[in-house]
Amino acid sequence: MNSPNSPAPSGRLSSIMQEDRLFPPSAEFSKRARIQSMEDYRRIYADAMEHPEKFWDNLAKLLPWTTPYTRVLDWQPPCASWFVGGRTNASAACLDQHVAAGRGDKRAMVWVGEPIGERRELTYRELLAEVCMCAGGLVKLGIKAGDVVSIYMPMTPELVIAMLACARIGAVHSVIFGGFSSEAIADRNEDAQAVAVITADGGWRRGSQLPLKKNVDDALVRSPSVKHVIVLKRTGQPVSMTPGRDIWWHDLVADMPDSMAPVAMDSEAPLFILYTSGSTGKPKGIEHTTAGYLLWAKTTAEWVFDLRDDDLFWCTADCGWITGHSYVTYGPLAAGTSILIYEGAPNAPNEGRFWDIVEQEKPTIFYTAPTAIRSFMKWGMSHIENRDLSSLRLLGTVGEGINPEAWIWYHEVIGGKRCPIVDTWWQTETGGIMMSPLPGATPTKPGSCTMPLPGVVPEIVDSEGNPVDTGEGGWLVMKQPWPGMLRGIWGDQERYRETYWSKVPGKYLAGDNARQDADGYYWIMGRIDDVLNVAGHRLSTIEIESALVSHPCVAEAAAVGRPHDVKGEAVAVFVTLRSGEAGEVLKETLRKHVRHQIGALAVPDDIHFASVLPKTRSGKIMRRLLRDIAAGRETVGDTTTLEDYTVLAKLRDDE
Ligand code: PRX
Repeated sequence: MNSPNSPAPSGRLSSIMQEDRLFPPSAEFSKRARIQSMEDYRRIYADAMEHPEKFWDNLAKLLPWTTPYTRVLDWQPPCASWFVGGRTNASAACLDQHVAAGRGDKRAMVWVGEPIGERRELTYRELLAEVCMCAGGLVKLGIKAGDVVSIYMPMTPELVIAMLACARIGAVHSVIFGGFSSEAIADRNEDAQAVAVITADGGWRRGSQLPLKKNVDDALVRSPSVKHVIVLKRTGQPVSMTPGRDIWWHDLVADMPDSMAPVAMDSEAPLFILYTSGSTGKPKGIEHTTAGYLLWAKTTAEWVFDLRDDDLFWCTADCGWITGHSYVTYGPLAAGTSILIYEGAPNAPNEGRFWDIVEQEKPTIFYTAPTAIRSFMKWGMSHIENRDLSSLRLLGTVGEGINPEAWIWYHEVIGGKRCPIVDTWWQTETGGIMMSPLPGATPTKPGSCTMPLPGVVPEIVDSEGNPVDTGEGGWLVMKQPWPGMLRGIWGDQERYRETYWSKVPGKYLAGDNARQDADGYYWIMGRIDDVLNVAGHRLSTIEIESALVSHPCVAEAAAVGRPHDVKGEAVAVFVTLRSGEAGEVLKETLRKHVRHQIGALAVPDDIHFASVLPKTRSGKIMRRLLRDIAAGRETVGDTTTLEDYTVLAKLRDDE
């Protein structure tokens, strides 16, 4: 996807994107929607702006409290406490309250396995029972409130069950995406001091079996804090079980009761940690707490997806990412919605799999990433045209900007021109959606995440913190705290202050550039730091560089993003060598090395061997130049700080 925006010499951004098409929701959609017009939206927004505490108090009352809170918000920037003094439990909000309200027989989850024919349905009552049994098993192992449990699993019902079981006993879950390597698991276990890992023998991915348990075994060599490993039998592949440490999931839950009282947790008790990439080599454990996060996930799910009782909501994200936390698990389940989960790849056994699932399971809402949409476009119409997609009433996107061409395709081909599209902007740190159309109210513009949700107060500023003019790009910040905001970086409050609150004092720095057009619509223009967005996954260039220089042949490395049709950005690296011979064999070795250090998602697409890297006189690598070269563009802009002018010519020769 080509970036439509480019840096201007002033440091501010100028935008060349012109997108004037406007798609208002149909009268029929609006008539049935929770929020039916822009007047409604403006009224609710103004209400939240003028009386934020009263606004959130009214919504928070709907959560099941065991002890009511005494204060809505205690804001000591940058530290927020929401619903102070209250006690609740996230699994009770997602399960018990619905069963108690007589909705125990409603479908909570439809799960479709990657192997054809595998399918499960769980009602809210059944899901609650499974969560209680797993929670009982965790307690039997001695796991208690405040302990951290890593979860490294395929997208099975048990992944959601494991998350909710941790929540039920107050243990803090740290889900690690199944595509990460053993090294990445070990780093996360160590940083969080995890006491247990919940995993599976393996997972299905495009017909092959991922060695999940093997990766955990390798990680545990470096994870002395981990005392227990719980292993779900999923693929049946052989695994080694260490006596006294490893236990099969089915053995753990075998004699557990199917009911268990949830532990009443303080509103501000951590619910989970989720590691994400920042602009340093060390992933940060983003910390979310119980009540504020839950309220944010639930309320934003209701607003943005316009949830109704008869919806079946398919969010295609893996629970290894924040989207799978907020819109597979906590948001829709707290709202009492039926969710659809699919375990595997969109092209297993063929490129029509998603549309077969839509035809068979009849989801009403479909929420996915632009990179997936671009793959569907590439795979062509033959996989779609004979499928019945008429169950869909609403579409969503998340994870990166969507190019207007993909937006229009999504609207016409998948949405049959009748489904509104919600382009949702948010981040791991924000806990839930921050800017998005409200499908019954907001006229959409392809490529814009439109407007902030009630309670979200964005501003676009320059590097001095001054608001920029309409149409001008700058840093996106948030001026007010919101219930779903991160509370910190696990074990590193200083980094929390420094990363998010120091560059524009007193305001939350999102790390994205954005602009607002004359109609008040927001357009996200990409990251301001060294974070890449590859197929909707956040990767730090420095993490990739650190992985490369840990290989004995590599002297120096620089990683940059380059435009990619399907993935949005691809990873290009420039490497200078200490030893070894530049060539295909070494390229393959380095790819394997990065896969081992971080995981398959970080493997560089292009490796350029260079005799020297372009640097400023102060020794900083000039990434801008490398980005131009990686993208095959002529180098534009200022090169006067380049230490050695011949470097550029050399780099091009090295290609
Ligand atoms: O750059 C923005 C981009 O993804 C970043 C957040 O990544 P992550 O924490 O992994 O969360 C992804 C899922 C919420 C943001 O800083 N991003 C996310 N959604 C959009 C987006 N960029 C443009 N438009 C979006 N809708």
